[in-house]
Formats: sequence, structure tokens, C-alpha cells
Amino acid sequence: MTIIVTGGAGFIGSNFIFYQLKEHPDDRIICLDKLTYAGNLSTLQCVMHHPQFRFVKADICDRKAVGKLFEEEKPDIVVNFAAESHVDRSIEDPEVFLQTNIIGTEVLMDACRQYGSVRFHQVSTDEVYGDLPLDRPDLLFSEETPIHTSSPYSSSKAGADLLVLAYYRTYDLPVTISRCSNNYGPYQFPEKLIPLMIVNALADKPLPVYGKGLNVRDWLYVEDHCRAIDLMIRQGKVGEIYHVGGHHEMANIEIVKLICQELGKPESLITFVTDRKGHDLRYAIDPTKICQELGWVPETQFADGIRKTIRWYLENRSWWEEIISGEYRNEDEKR
Ligand code: NAD
Ligand code: DAU
Repeated sequence: MTIIVTGGAGFIGSNFIFYQLKEHPDDRIICLDKLTYAGNLSTLQCVMHHPQFRFVKADICDRKAVGKLFEEEKPDIVVNFAAESHVDRSIEDPEVFLQTNIIGTEVLMDACRQYGSVRFHQVSTDEVYGDLPLDRPDLLFSEETPIHTSSPYSSSKAGADLLVLAYYRTYDLPVTISRCSNNYGPYQFPEKLIPLMIVNALADKPLPVYGKGLNVRDWLYVEDHCRAIDLMIRQGKVGEIYHVGGHHEMANIEIVKLICQELGKPESLITFVTDRKGHDLRYAIDPTKICQELGWVPETQFADGIRKTIRWYLENRSWWEEIISGEYRNEDEKR
């Protein structure tokens, strides 16, 4: 089988590529990535010469480049991770979010239709449902919860999801959608909560916690998300949405304190800063459907996953130091 993985030079996409090459050595993986600030070729260095892997630098919005790749590779499946993914950036400048997250998805699905109804998987997010109250721990998002977005980022992801469902109904395109909770693990760009706190703590820099740090997120180790997507693209029912989450809710401040403790750093580094505009209070996903229908269960406990993640950032300093210095962009621009 040939699988095009878009956004594979980013956090979850790269982990998915490693998972695929390990678990399905006969499949061919083509990574299509624009290498925005969030894409990093050094992440893919270890698979660059793998006989079943090819990297192509291109924008998912570039119809010609996408068409050319489909013609060359005749993919069986497309897994779309490519996106602008950071909520704070979407608040500063929404436009590129609409372009990549919505138009890019449309371009990819048009190519899937044109080249023989290629199976398309959209990697989406629990953020499309907006938030839940902090004082109702009994409430969880189900696949039937109405879409109700808060940020330009989540609105762009919701728009893409609606388009994916429209392509299923209107054109019979074989699609699936996954909506996952917050991921953590190796290769996450240090603008997101967990890696930012790790690298700042290591440098004894302030740890900026928005508001009072009471917002709650539901954390899942990235490899568990990759395994869920692998099941969906091979066994998932077309036209369906599947939730992915590990029932591991934590307030931001608890996470930051835990990172301080694991690194032996003082909590006095924690600095409460102005809250994010429109900041969602709580996300909590109900993954019953994927557990029952596809037999998925999260395998990594948070206590183990966070230690593995912290160890990874300690052992791979050059990966994130090159991001902080900007050096990684020089290599990527040579492509
Ligand atoms: P990321 O920001 O780390 O990586 C995004 C990747 O997409 C980068 O390699 C970037 O270069 C590439 N990209 C961006 N615009 C592109 C374009 N126009 N054409 C081609 N490539 C482009 O993101 P991530 O955290 O790995 O998230 C991947 C996907 O998973 C996103 O769709 C996101 O919405 C979704 N998601 C993320 C999380 C999470 O916790 N990180 C949770 C649920 C869903
Ligand atoms: O829920 C899935 C989503 O998780 C994905 O769709 C997004 O792509 C991904 O970025 C993530 O969104 P969040 O906004 O939840 O993640 P982030 O790491 O930006 O923030 C997590 C929480 O931590 C959130 O409540 C805001 C807070 N925060 C974040 C940063 C960067 C801080 O308090 N300080 C910070 O410096």
C-alpha cells in the first residue's frame, strides 16, 4: 500500500511515519510537507534513506504539486496532518489557518476524487466542540456533540471537518475523521504547553501560565494517537468520526508543577500571565466508540509518558536548541 502523509515533518505526523514504517514495513510512505516554521527536516533524518520512504516539499494548497504527486505515486490512502496547529498564532493572524486548514483539505480531497476515490483520513481535534464547564466532570464530548468553536484555529478545523463529511455525502469519497485530545511526546514544537515548560525550566526561564492555570486538558501520549489512526485507516468505517482520548484530565498548573518536580526546578519559576483570549476551560473526550468498534485502548499511562517525554527533551537538546536559535530553518530552506 502507498500512503501519503501530509504534515509529516511536524509533531504527530512524524511520530505516525515512524509508527507506520515500524509496524507496516511493506507499505510505502510519502511525506508531503511545506516545512513551515512547525516542520523540521531533522525530525525525519532517521528515515530519510529508508527504502520505503520519500519526502516531498510542497504546500497542500498547491493543486498542481499535489496532482503531480498523486500521478507519480498513485496513493491508496491520504492521512492529512498538515495544518496550522497553534491556537495562540490563530488569534494573532487567522488567515493562514483558513488557507491551510480548509482550502488545503479541499485540494487534497479533490485529488483523492480525481485519482480514483483514494481513501482520505482527516486528523481533527476535540477543540471543534468548544469547551465544557469546570464544575461538571460528568460531561464528556461524544461524536454527536454539536460543533461550537472558540478560536480561529478550531473554527478552521471544524470547517475542514464539515467539508470532509460533505465530500463523503456528495461524492462518496471514502473518508474518516479522528478527533483527538491534547497530545504530548517527542518532537513537539516548543511553543506548546508541555515542551515549552520543559525547555524553559531547563534554562531557568519563567514558566508562563495563562490566567490561573485552572484550564483542563485531556492528555494522550502521541504513540497512542498514531495507533488509533492506523486502526481507523485500515479498519474504520467510511463516513465515520472517531474520538481518541485517554481519560486523563489535568489542570495546566498541575502539569507545570509536575514538570518542575521532575526536573528538580523551583516552582518560583511559574509566572501567571494574561489569559489567552477566548480560552477554552475544559476538554474531555469520550473514546468509547473506537474502543468498542476497533479495539483501541491507550497503552501509555500519563506518569510513564511524561517521564519518557521529559527524558527525550533532555537527551535531544540539539533538536530543540536548533529550533530556539532558528538554525533548523537554514537546513529546511535548502530543500
Ligand atoms: P504541527 O504544527 O507540529 O505540524 C504541522 C505540520 O504541517 C508541519 O510539519 C508543517 O510544516 C506542516 N504544514 C503546515 N502547513 C502546511 C501546508 N500548507 N502544506 C503542507 N504542510 C504544511 O502539528 P501537530 O501538533 O503535529 O498536529 C498535526 C495535526 O493533528 C493537526 O491537523 C492538528 O490540528 C491535529 N491535532 C493536534 C493535536 C495536538 O495535541 N498537537 C491534537 C489533536 C489534533
Ligand atoms: O485539544 C487538542 C489541541 O491541543 C490541538 O487541536 C491543538 O493543535 C494543540 O495545539 C492543543 O491545543 P491547546 O491550546 O490545548 O494546547 P497548548 O499547548 O497551546 O495549550 C495547552 C493549555 O496550556 C491551554 O489551556 C493554554 C495553556 N498554556 C499554553 C501555553 C503555550 C499556558 O498556560 N501557557 C503557555 O505558554
